[in-house]
Amino acid sequence: MINESMTNEPIAAYQQQIELALKNKKYGSNPKELYEPIEYMMSLGGKRLRPVLVFIGCEFFGGDTSKALHPALAIELFHNFTLVHDDIMDKAPLRRNQSTVHTKWNDNIAILSGDTMLVKAYQELCKSPSVELPKLLELFSETAVKVCEGQQLDMNYEKLYKVSIAQYLKMIELKTAVLLGGSLKMGALIAGADEKSAQNCYDFGKHIGIAFQLQDDVLDVYADAEKFGKQKGGDIVANKKTYLLLKALEMVESNRYLKEELHQWINAPSFDAKEKVEAITAIYNFLNIPELARTEMKKHYDMALTYLHEISVDEIKKQELITFADSLMVREV
Ligand code: IPE
Ligand code: IPE
Ligand code: MG
Ligand code: MG
Ligand code: MG
Repeated sequence: MINESMTNEPIAAYQQQIELALKNKKYGSNPKELYEPIEYMMSLGGKRLRPVLVFIGCEFFGGDTSKALHPALAIELFHNFTLVHDDIMDKAPLRRNQSTVHTKWNDNIAILSGDTMLVKAYQELCKSPSVELPKLLELFSETAVKVCEGQQLDMNYEKLYKVSIAQYLKMIELKTAVLLGGSLKMGALIAGADEKSAQNCYDFGKHIGIAFQLQDDVLDVYADAEKFGKQKGGDIVANKKTYLLLKALEMVESNRYLKEELHQWINAPSFDAKEKVEAITAIYNFLNIPELARTEMKKHYDMALTYLHEISVDEIKKQELITFADSLMVREV
């Protein structure tokens, strides 16, 4: 649901507009096994960040925000499609505090309703004003393929022992950050921004997106379970090569005892999930890993700001975007 720290007025208004448009949207009814999961997923809430970014990008350059609605909904549909499939890949039981689609129905239904959501996303995008449509389609498609590349790397890295921080950062750039950058850039394109400014928006969003995924990795271990809405510790169970795990692997090199323990858990063919999560969390705590993740987040947040400074628009508008970005850095869900 909408984060309390995001009650920035224009942003709250965009969120309401998006929520209302989604509520009124009809996806289809027959066969119900195909459409019910779509209705279910799209009505579960979520922060609706990416469509808000489309609106912000458009407003930023003085565009007509009524033109931003279809592309914004397209992005949200695409994002939810990726979540339905991501939850199959990650064997996740919970999403937004409710059962994931593949647990409530089954894997095949989640695959097919997810596919349909992707097609629906394109149909929605095609309702955009025709002058902007070719550029939007190109950006949307490029971004979507990058997300899939990132998701594949994420899975490859589960099984790969030696993953560098640079490889990890590239992976999260692809699976998560480009969609945030792409959303903002889509808004900018709708407003007719010049290519350089639109690209600066993209890079701003991309670095905020990298920080956002770093925070997501931290929350997977340290979130308040009541608020989080997802299963905690899923990344640890799956040996996801998160920033936390990679940093820990790097740091235990100088501590024989910890190295042995960490490697034992990573290589264990069978284990009690709760025990593994507790043991690895204790190692993270001992090494002060969450603090290091926050330092890395800050680096990308600062990098994002350098792109924002390149754009010549009103400082007040920039401040609005910064306030929104700030709320993401301290998010709890
Ligand atoms: C979850 O995205 C997937 C990631 C990229 C971490 P969000 O945290 O934006 O999920 P919702 O849409 O608000 O539920
Ligand atoms: C998901 O990353 C990124 C995409 C869905 C493309 P995660 O797997 O970390 O997202 P959550 O934690 O399940 O939301
Ligand atoms: Mg995943
Ligand atoms: Mg996941
Ligand atoms: Mg996650």
